[in-house]
Amino acid sequence: MRHSSPETVLITGASSGIGLELAKGFAADKSNLVLVARSTEALEKRAADLRRQYQIEVCVLPADLSQAESPQRIFDELKGRGIAVDVLVNNAGFGLHGMFHELPLARQLEILQVNQTALTALTGLFLPALLARNRGGILNVGSIAAFQPGPVMAIYFASKAYVQSFTEALAAELSDTNITVSVLCPGPTETNFGQVARGNKVRRRKLPGMTASAVAQYGYHKFRKGQVVIVPGLGNKFTVCLVRFIPRAWLRKMVKYFNQQIYSP
Ligand SMILES: NC(=O)c1ccc[n+]([C@@H]2O[C@H](COP(=O)([O-])OP(=O)(O)OC[C@H]3O[C@@H](n4cnc5c(N)ncnc54)[C@H](OP(=O)(O)O)[C@@H]3O)[C@@H](O)[C@H]2O)c1
Repeated sequence: MRHSSPETVLITGASSGIGLELAKGFAADKSNLVLVARSTEALEKRAADLRRQYQIEVCVLPADLSQAESPQRIFDELKGRGIAVDVLVNNAGFGLHGMFHELPLARQLEILQVNQTALTALTGLFLPALLARNRGGILNVGSIAAFQPGPVMAIYFASKAYVQSFTEALAAELSDTNITVSVLCPGPTETNFGQVARGNKVRRRKLPGMTASAVAQYGYHKFRKGQVVIVPGLGNKFTVCLVRFIPRAWLRKMVKYFNQQIYSP
């Protein structure tokens, strides 16, 4: 995907982890940024650092994507300010560790709202302008969790399966346009994700993970090349290939055992 600078890139979940590292990738290429997350203070700090380091324009838009009205509010706010988005990065997301029946239902529905409904709504709101200009892109952050059912993190895995299916389908629908549509599928990555997922539980096993920077750099590079499904890291590529050959009944048991080993109450 060729890009004409200065383009404007909207990144959700840009206050930490993979989203922040993706922001640095776009900033290094002189893209202007719109950063979205809940924590205003963290966003303001990241924005100041990015402006100073890369001499780009960075706009901060605090929003809680678990609130149904947030995507429309973000869209209206940017429209009001006359900011046209060229690339949408739907990165914000979280998961919860535990059995479906034991976790609070309202929090689990928030996972669906943030990971899939807000992602879909933002895509639906910003895509028409990309189509009108016939350029730009959408980068959705999925997970290798998308490739199998995830007992003990059932809703999170299912939400990422949605992101995978939706993004691949959209990429096929838009294949005759100049719009790049990609899904980045990280495996375990050193971010705040685990802390949010485990809540008050104790970590029993530390998963060998990639750094957020390595995931984002690989993802950014492949997105610019127009790759649709982006799996960073050899171990993650191997996992995604392997699960295709394991009978589903075995796979369910294996993932349940694996997920149960990570944290204990
Ligand atoms: N880390 C992993 O092992 C891993 C593996 C595969 C996929 N992923 C995916 O990578 C993406 C980024 O996660 P991460 O690992 O970088 O974790 P992270 O460090 O916890 O970052 C999550 C980001 O999402 C934002 N966010 C969370 N809830 C939000 C809400 N309701 N509204 C708006 N923003 C919200 C957070 O900011 P605020 O808290 O300030 O709102 C933060 O900026 C997620 O989609 C995750 O599912 C992560």
